[in-house]
Amino acid sequence: MIEGSLRPQQFSQYIGQEKVKDNLKIFIEAAKMRQECLDHVLLYGPPGLGKTTLSAIIANEMGVQMRTTSGPAIERPGDLAAVLTALEPGDVLFIDEIHRLNRVVEEVLYPAMEDFCIDIVIGKGPTARSVRLDLPPFTLVGATTRAGLLSAPLRDRFGVLSRLEYYNEKELSQIVLRTADILEAELGEEAALEIARRSRGTPRIANRLLRRVRDFAQVQGDGQITAPIAHHALERLQVDRLGLDHIDHKLLMGIIEKFRGGPVGIDTIAATIGEEPDTIEEVYEPYLLQIGFLQRTPRGRIVTPLVYNHFQMEVPEA
Ligand code: ADE
Repeated sequence: MIEGSLRPQQFSQYIGQEKVKDNLKIFIEAAKMRQECLDHVLLYGPPGLGKTTLSAIIANEMGVQMRTTSGPAIERPGDLAAVLTALEPGDVLFIDEIHRLNRVVEEVLYPAMEDFCIDIVIGKGPTARSVRLDLPPFTLVGATTRAGLLSAPLRDRFGVLSRLEYYNEKELSQIVLRTADILEAELGEEAALEIARRSRGTPRIANRLLRRVRDFAQVQGDGQITAPIAHHALERLQVDRLGLDHIDHKLLMGIIEKFRGGPVGIDTIAATIGEEPDTIEEVYEPYLLQIGFLQRTPRGRIVTPLVYNHFQMEVPEA
């Protein structure tokens, strides 16, 4: 079973993100009625919520190919020119981590997005000249975990801006039930909910936990993923009742023990727990903010009383 085949291929198979989906369906239908390509789409939100999958569905529903690249992979204008000139009319170009495009490359992207052309410089020095190259019309689908880091001119060139939200437990349990079906694993509804509850609102995590729980069911049980097996496996995986793992614990306990609950700056937190500040901001912090465990203040991050309750600690006096 290859990973790609787990991904839903059509909106009808895609669970959750109802608002984003409903709007995209309209924009796609309208573009098809006009026989135009879809306007450029920016998908943003925390990692693992389905940005790549949605982009593939957009291409599929438009009946075109998707080409994939990423911000860090495009180092020079020539790299981008190579990608753009290889597109077929109507194609979707998916650029992951688009906030990591550098300035020079970004400037080549503007006319490409707006007028479907690029200006490339041929030669060097006094004989250098600029040549305008026409491109086939295409749809850029940009994905980012950090919409705030996108420059305003780039952001303004997207006609559709869609923010992906964390999934609720019901949606996540439907997702793991669907995945289990494809993997031909026997997963009970209660077990699915147990996995869903501990997946931090994130399908990528839910599907990963499902595979690990399946391993326990296979080796320590008869293969059936029951609620007790799921519970046992998730304890073994050190994923707590809210889906927090040992890095979340380290982060929260670090703030409590070393900084009396904060406020403390992100770089200081990162240094104490040995993680990159970017990883904390992109991967760990969004969920902790969402569940109200962390707050951002102008002087840094603070933990809330919910954290003390979660760890069965006494909430300190203000
Ligand atoms: N697998 C991962 N994310 C999914 C989603 N949103 N819907 C269905 N299957 C998925």
